[in-house]
This record gives sequence, C-alpha cells and structure tokens, in this order.
Amino acid sequence: MMLESIHTEHGYINRLLKILRQKLDAIQNGQPVNYSLIKDIVEYLQKHAECCHHPKEDLLYRYYQSHYGKSGEMQNLEAEHVELAKLTHEFADAVDMILMDAVIPLDVFAEKLNTFVMRQKAHLEFEEKHIIPLIRRTFTAEDWIAVSAEYEKYDKCEYDPLFGDKVAERYRNLSERLSA
Ligand SMILES: [Fe+2]
Ligand SMILES: [Fe+2]
Repeated sequence: MMLESIHTEHGYINRLLKILRQKLDAIQNGQPVNYSLIKDIVEYLQKHAECCHHPKEDLLYRYYQSHYGKSGEMQNLEAEHVELAKLTHEFADAVDMILMDAVIPLDVFAEKLNTFVMRQKAHLEFEEKHIIPLIRRTFTAEDWIAVSAEYEKYDKCEYDPLFGDKVAERYRNLSERLSA
C-alpha cells in the first residue's frame, strides 16, 4: 500500500516535471511562458510532495536500514530529500522574482529550471528503478504491518489538493493544464 502510493505520487511528480520541461523548451525558443503555472507546480511540490511524499520514503528507508543493515544508497536518498527541499526553495524564490518583474536574465532562469527538473527526475528515477524494487522484495508481511502502523501515527496527508478527488481552488488552473 505504501509502495503503491509512493509509485503513484512519482507518476504525479513526473507529470508536473514534464510540464516544467515544456516551459523550459518554450523559454529557450523565445516563446512567452506562463510563470504562474510554474509557481503553482513548485508550490504543490513544496506543500504537498515535500510534506507527504518524502516522509513516507524516509520512514521506509530508516526501517529498512534498522532491520536489514545500512544502505549507502538509502542514506544518500534521505540526504537528497533535504537537498531537494533546499533546491526547491531556491527555485521558488527565483520564480517569485520573475513574477515580481525583478530582473533575472532568462538564460539564468532557464539554467535553474533545467537543474531543478534534472535533479528531481534523477532522484525519483533512482527510487523507482532501484530502491522500491529492493524494498518490495525484502520486506515481509510483518515489516509492512510495522511500517504502516508507524506511518499512520503521523499521516496527515490523506487529501491531495491537486490529484485528489476534489481539486482545491488554488490548483484549478494547474489541474486544467494537466488534463489538457
Ligand atoms: Fe525520495
Ligand atoms: Fe520519491
């Protein structure tokens, strides 16, 4: 159940990264870009993905390591969660500056956008290809009962404001863009 939701969320994040990739192409081709949509995506990643997705993974990585031995790869991923949060924060600032008409050269912004997309994508692809399969083949039924109980203690992330049943007003535009 937890792995399924992590996998589903990776699919959501991937869809958002794909839109960012298209924005990057548009900027590089000198086409006009809707920066508020970039802002919406970054905000969703900050408010939802960072608070609900990463903690779920951290819990699994920590459980794995306390029961099956240290994994350098998992330690790296946990550290990357912290780095990605920082990167996202910095990128959000750059988007805000553009929206406030501060002067940022477009090539500088494009470079930040490119780095942002590449780092996020590399992270989730590594999890999908290597770490989720490893956890899936390692964890026993008892392990799943234990981690699920642990997760329920602090899970306040039932509601997804963008991909959930009811789209929050805040993400109406982005949701329409996603289904276009
Ligand atoms: Fe992760
Ligand atoms: Fe992830």
